[in-house]
Amino acid sequence: MSRLIRNSRWWGLAFALGAAPGFADEPAGASVFAGRCAVCHGPEAAGIPGSFPSLHEQIVAFGQSPEGRDYLVMVVTTGLMGEVKVAGASYRGVMPAQSGLSEAEVAAVLSYLASDRGKQPGPPVLAAADVAAARARHPDGTAQSTYALRPTLPGP
Ligand code: HEC
Repeated sequence: MSRLIRNSRWWGLAFALGAAPGFADEPAGASVFAGRCAVCHGPEAAGIPGSFPSLHEQIVAFGQSPEGRDYLVMVVTTGLMGEVKVAGASYRGVMPAQSGLSEAEVAAVLSYLASDRGKQPGPPVLAAADVAAARARHPDGTAQSTYALRPTLPGP
């Protein structure tokens, strides 16, 4: 059954309703993701190799440091431009700034991703106040300056 849902076009709908198994704690983040991010990053955030990076392991890692959390907030706030390497693939794309999201929605979608899409238990990685604080630390952020904030991760 879960394989059926995973492969079916109803997956996005299940996501939007927060009805997919294992996502019960993150309905707000999952629905922001489905509505705003999945169009590029894919319904399961697995990306499209060479075009859109996955938002899996590296986002969980970014969520574990203050610098990484600032980076995540600013990617959504300003968009991103610069070469990123994820899982052996290189991306030289442009992510547009995601306007129109409240601070609570930005916190929810990033907490959802940083908890491995709701699979890791624990309190939200980011709250609305953290989003406001990160933006205050980087008031003139651009897609290029946000790129400079990207933490270097160990490993390949
Ligand atoms: C129009 C397509 C598009 C949309 C919509 C989009 N992104 Fe992106 N995103 C990209 C591209 C392209 C990149 C890589 C940019 C680059 O190569 O510099 C990216 C990169 C990222 C990164 C950095 C990944 C890394 O390894 O450093 C994060 C985090 C991210 N996106 C989160 C989101 C979230 C959260 C949303 C929804 C609120 C979203 N994106 C919506 C296209 C998109």
